[in-house]
Amino acid sequence: MTELGNHNAGIVIVGAGIAGVQAAEGLRKAGYDGALTLVGAEPHMPYDRPPLSKEVLLRAGAENTIALRDENFFAANKIDVMLGKRVCAIERPDRRVVLEDGSRLDYVKLVLATGSRPRVLAGLSPQAPGVFYLRTLADSLMLRATLARGGRVAIVGGGVIGLEVAAVAAGRGLAVTVIEAASRVMARAASPVIGAYLAKRHQEHGVAIRCGVSVDSARQDGDGCWRLALNDGCVVEAEIVVVGVGVVPETSLAGAAGLQVAKEGVVTDGFGRTDDSNIYAAGEVAYHVNGLEKGRQRQENWHHAAAHGAHVGRALIAPDTCYSEICGYWSDQYDTHLMVSGLPAGDVDVVRGDVTTNRFVVFHLVGGVVAGASAVNAAPELRVAKLLVRNRARVPASELQDPSTDLRKVAA
Ligand code: APR
Repeated sequence: MTELGNHNAGIVIVGAGIAGVQAAEGLRKAGYDGALTLVGAEPHMPYDRPPLSKEVLLRAGAENTIALRDENFFAANKIDVMLGKRVCAIERPDRRVVLEDGSRLDYVKLVLATGSRPRVLAGLSPQAPGVFYLRTLADSLMLRATLARGGRVAIVGGGVIGLEVAAVAAGRGLAVTVIEAASRVMARAASPVIGAYLAKRHQEHGVAIRCGVSVDSARQDGDGCWRLALNDGCVVEAEIVVVGVGVVPETSLAGAAGLQVAKEGVVTDGFGRTDDSNIYAAGEVAYHVNGLEKGRQRQENWHHAAAHGAHVGRALIAPDTCYSEICGYWSDQYDTHLMVSGLPAGDVDVVRGDVTTNRFVVFHLVGGVVAGASAVNAAPELRVAKLLVRNRARVPASELQDPSTDLRKVAA
């Protein structure tokens, strides 16, 4: 029996996404055998979010394949899953959380795994008819049904979500316009080479990409058509408006409870601990320490949420090593499978392969060191690239570029 297991109240995890589930599993793997409750605001058993803007939008029935664990997992691991329950307050002096229905749950340790929520644009309310934000399964199913009925599609934000939705909509033959405020698409998540490559793929599929413009005002007319007035004087008309302009950490619970919160998330150390020794934060909500990097970080991706969740779960019982993870993400657009590991861009980006072949790798160098890599339809190459990133390899650009260089030898 662990020390924590001696208490009647157990560990409560708020948030049943990938970070929360991994934290629960991490706790059990580390030997915690006390009470364990996972509280989720959505009504569904824990599911995986990346497919929501990919397979689930593309194919009816795909939503049945996205469970994070089979149902037996939770019973077998004695994890009490409370679904459709939103935690609305933390009463720190009494160590309990308050649920929306007024009931309370005692905790001996609390893990906040509340993730991120979409940034909402003024004038484009998520409740407005014809306007879609994409974060939950319900959002995805509603958007899929709407795309199936057809209409012109305006996508505000040319990031990961915007371009994945654009690929699905264009694939259905719909007229799609992407409105991106920055000077290029995927500016947060990808290097200029990858951004340009993806923009070209979209244009080949008939998507109109408008960069360097933003929506000044939006109005829906009686005919159901949205008219988005851009700051360059143009008006984009669409029956379907999808907004994907980034996410913000869901820190409201932590903030209201007086925990230390920055705009990047709940402030934690390398073990997920907040400034309250009984409260931890895991995944995208945590402004965390990563032993491989200087200072604190916010990471928005599945890989981090999964790895950090598992780490924090373990760290509650056995805080032996600081979180140290090279994170990344993937994106599917048409027949392009993009995988990124480490930094998505460097001060020098070196292409290995031919971008016109739809299979190539870009190495991202910072100060001459391989700090990240992006692979387009090249998963095996990314595996080798990850080793270079992990080893902080200093490889001349000429060698990285040269197809005759055996990168496995360089990485060894
Ligand atoms: N008008 C147009 N574009 C905007 C505006 C605006 N007012 N504000 C921001 N943008 C653009 C940004 O420049 C960026 O290119 O929206 C894009 C948002 O892209 P991401 O940061 O990739 O965020 P998003 O696509 O919303 O994805 C959110 O979901 O896939 C996950 O983990 C992924 O963190 C990501 C999250």
